[in-house]
Amino acid sequence: MNSPCRIVVLISGLGSNLQAIIDACANKKINGQVVAVISNRPDVLGLKRAAQAGIKTETLDHTKFPDRETFDRALKALIESFSPDAILLAGFMRILSTEFTQHFAGKMLNIHPSRLPKFRGLKTHQRALEAGEKTHGASVHFVTNELDGGPVILQSQLKIKPEHTVETLAADVLKQEHVIYSQAVKWFCDGALVLNNHHVLLNGKKLDNPIQLDDIESDF
Ligand code: GRF
Repeated sequence: MNSPCRIVVLISGLGSNLQAIIDACANKKINGQVVAVISNRPDVLGLKRAAQAGIKTETLDHTKFPDRETFDRALKALIESFSPDAILLAGFMRILSTEFTQHFAGKMLNIHPSRLPKFRGLKTHQRALEAGEKTHGASVHFVTNELDGGPVILQSQLKIKPEHTVETLAADVLKQEHVIYSQAVKWFCDGALVLNNHHVLLNGKKLDNPIQLDDIESDF
């Protein structure tokens, strides 16, 4: 087996996706190690989760920087100081500059709470309910300079029930996020998942469409 993948996770808040990745590394389902957790907001729960797991934490408060480019350059340098193989955005609520996303192209993944390309951006659950969608879900994708627009790897799906509220729908999707993010990170750390010329390759095969969680036997 290859040496464990060095993972840096970027967060802004609760860090439940971070926790799922930490747990999956701890129980060896992912051949990886979270070497650092970086938050752009101080004192968030995700930082406490990381500290509890004995992981190095860093806070880089974006409000202390004059502009996006300066913040992104500092963030880039901080990430690079951990020599990561993978950078995971997990509820990291920042738009990233093109210089930043290009620098980490092919190494950076994001979890998004919708079935992309539907509902890029914020308030995805509310927008899905308002649009009268029958289904909703989450997506894991490679990060490119297009916001929530990089090639999608894996998606989940659930039926929207009449009794769903924004809160209960978000909670149901979040459970699926933990599964699909862990699965995609496992593939990445195994070297099975590669971004090639804007296409996703899984085990050397180009994906014509995102993989659907319902169609695979997940390890999570
Ligand atoms: C998740 O829904 C994620 O997809 C979105 O923000 C939420 C973060 O949750 N971008 P957590 O911090 O991982 O608990």
